[in-house]
Amino acid sequence: MQIITTKAELERSIQACKMKGQTIGLVPTMGALHEGHASLVRRCVSENDITVVSVFVNPTQFNNKEDLAKYPRSLERDAALLESIGAQFVFAPAPEEMYTAQEMDEPFQFDFNGLDKVMEGKMRPGHFNGVVQVVSRLFYLVQPDRGYFGEKDFQQLAIIHFMVERSALAGTFGNLQIIGCPIVREQSGLALSSRNERLSADEKQTALAISRTLFASLDWAKQPNANVLEVQQRVVDTINAVPGLEVEYYEIVDQSTLMPTDTFNHAIGCVTVYCGPVRLIDNIMYS
Ligand code: PAF
Repeated sequence: MQIITTKAELERSIQACKMKGQTIGLVPTMGALHEGHASLVRRCVSENDITVVSVFVNPTQFNNKEDLAKYPRSLERDAALLESIGAQFVFAPAPEEMYTAQEMDEPFQFDFNGLDKVMEGKMRPGHFNGVVQVVSRLFYLVQPDRGYFGEKDFQQLAIIHFMVERSALAGTFGNLQIIGCPIVREQSGLALSSRNERLSADEKQTALAISRTLFASLDWAKQPNANVLEVQQRVVDTINAVPGLEVEYYEIVDQSTLMPTDTFNHAIGCVTVYCGPVRLIDNIMYS
């Protein structure tokens, strides 16, 4: 496995693979890899000749400098894991390699047809613009056949689908296929996240109420005359009743439009909860 830090070297390596007719899969990450990432990389390795994993804590998707500074970084450990899974290339550039000063301060503004204005996007203005800024750049550099993303960040996945479908019309990314992979959970139910590393043992116990409540809501949704708004409110109240947890939002929305829905068909519930100082996200699909 090769660790690459410059765009020029990445493009040379990719060109060599393309010349041999090899298929390429890309798994974009911000490092601090856990079993959730590993599952994406395993799938990528099994479906492509070449697996490229980017490890880049993207400054333009953080709206909070403290959050950016605190984001866990562990390239050596990440590289060892990726090598053991069978990735061929790790792309780990410095921010200056990815962006000019102007791109960093005044990023190009994408239009996501409102998908970025709800839930996570409403709470973190500019976040998805930063995500797509880096992901589209990675797609240009790697020209992958397939890109792998976790369903835990469901809104991110929906926005990346939208961006790729829209650019497919313009032929920008060829036949790039976006592949969403299921959330990986601890046996306790807690969704794996790099942020879990910041939870104390007690907070981790407390956080279990999040997935427990989401799973319970599947049963609530099956009750005769179950009502979306009532289930939504019951999830919020149940989680907020746990000392140490505070719901930022819970919204049951249509899986394609991300707009509020009055039916559980094709619906997903997306939650963000503060567990002490740590902001955790999770979701549950109702059908
Ligand atoms: O999901 C993430 O880790 C990041 O948002 C991504 C897709 C790697 C872009 O920085």
